[in-house]
Amino acid sequence: MQEGRSKTDHLLMLARYYQHCTRCPLHQGRTQMVFGVGNPDSPLMIVGEGPGEQEDLQGEPFVGRAGQLLTKMLGAIGLRRQDVYITNIVKCRPPNNRTPFDEEMDACIPILRQQFAIIRPRLLLTLGAAATRAVIDRNARITKIRGQWFERNGVRMMATYHPAYLLRNPAKKAEAWEDLQAVRAALDALADDGSFTPPEAPNG
Ligand code: URA
Repeated sequence: MQEGRSKTDHLLMLARYYQHCTRCPLHQGRTQMVFGVGNPDSPLMIVGEGPGEQEDLQGEPFVGRAGQLLTKMLGAIGLRRQDVYITNIVKCRPPNNRTPFDEEMDACIPILRQQFAIIRPRLLLTLGAAATRAVIDRNARITKIRGQWFERNGVRMMATYHPAYLLRNPAKKAEAWEDLQAVRAALDALADDGSFTPPEAPNG
């Protein structure tokens, strides 16, 4: 990264560089690329699967129904959207919100790697099976590994259920709630070493 430029500047440059990307067929159906949103100085990066209809229209990740649930889940651990950095594995909407193909994820993941290199988060939360496989372990089964921390190069990573899955399976919300509590505890532990001042956690 060049000296003197902020993370925000670097991210803007990156977003501009890729805005007309045609590395995979997903560009054919997009209204716009959905790059990422939030606080690039946050110690927590959240990675979803890919933009849906609303995200494609608005240019911001997680603003549709699943996004509203994600915002609520973050609120439950005292975080606002602007306290974290949110992005997706693929930056263009897959047709009919299908899961992105491996080739599409492979084509797009260099962008996530560059976002990661700029932001240098300490914690990474993947939402759902596709993001978990792309980031944590290609063979991971989310039902098996959710809620567990994995560490790579000093970065702690955890998977939890995708909010769209939770909308279809509300009984799984209790497990996602546990996972988010663990994320909150990890943020609080970072606060103890002075690298993060978390907002107040809500009671209960
Ligand atoms: N689902 C995702 O995985 N990402 C979004 O941005 C919206 C819905």
